[in-house]
Amino acid sequence: MPVRKAVIPAAGLGTRFLPATKAQAKEMIPIIDKPAVQYIVEEAVEAGLTDVLFISGRSKRAIEDHFDRSPELEASLSASGKTAQLAEVIAIAELAYVHSVRQPEARGLGHAISFAERHVGNEPFVVMLGDDLMLDATVLKQMVAAHEVHGCSVVALKRIPGPSISAYGCVAINGYTDDGFAKITELVEKPPFASAPSDLAIMGRYLFTPSIFAKIAATPPGRGNEIQITDAMTLLLADEPILGVVFDEGRYDVGNKPDFLRATVEFALMRDDLGPDFELYLRDLLASRPPRS
Ligand code: G1P
Repeated sequence: MPVRKAVIPAAGLGTRFLPATKAQAKEMIPIIDKPAVQYIVEEAVEAGLTDVLFISGRSKRAIEDHFDRSPELEASLSASGKTAQLAEVIAIAELAYVHSVRQPEARGLGHAISFAERHVGNEPFVVMLGDDLMLDATVLKQMVAAHEVHGCSVVALKRIPGPSISAYGCVAINGYTDDGFAKITELVEKPPFASAPSDLAIMGRYLFTPSIFAKIAATPPGRGNEIQITDAMTLLLADEPILGVVFDEGRYDVGNKPDFLRATVEFALMRDDLGPDFELYLRDLLASRPPRS
């Protein structure tokens, strides 16, 4: 069955980005002129998905509004002849079929994903974490391709050397399939560096077979007393293989301030309308500043 549905957990409070997130959803914080969550939805669409479900919480209405039509704004843009902007705001509402469901209390990522069961039904689906912004859809496309061939669940993996591994789900692998996907043998949520099974960290892109829902339901609270998706995947691994797409470049943790800045600068440099002038500005700025001692 083709992968059509993306699930985007978006019920978090965004405490890492206070005060910006005091009265607004962290997913709506823009990278330049586009809310972070729009990049995620565009990535899903680029990978061939057509349906997006937000697992949302209180004060997240702006996300739903962003992907809906906006008659007053459209009428105003139309009346003032701003045809390019008019086309752009209409196109956002036509990116995908967008739905949302509320997670009444936040009890971990696995718990959040369990709220997608009714909408997803008996289909494979993708989970995309809003804090993990990707440069493009290359990794997600590879995950979908891996599922098409192998029919199993697939996660995105990146090597994270050193103690930072303990901020992630970590996996052990036993070699690669002939077509280059890592064969996962063990998963641990946020292990201490000393006992991490490898330096391969789970990044915020998952493709699950629907069997994951029964495994989430059978998962007891784990790290931080939360229902961890990594623990549910350990249960899944007892029944089905899980593969990994290992990638290197092009991921930004935009819930983290230095990475948010890096994404903003690098995305601006890549843009035709902003890049050339912004690059000159950056070069002048840095040349005019004495190096930090
Ligand atoms: C979550 C997962 C973790 C994964 C990470 C990727 O952690 O629990 O396994 O490695 O996302 O960003 P969080 O960052 O939500 O604490």
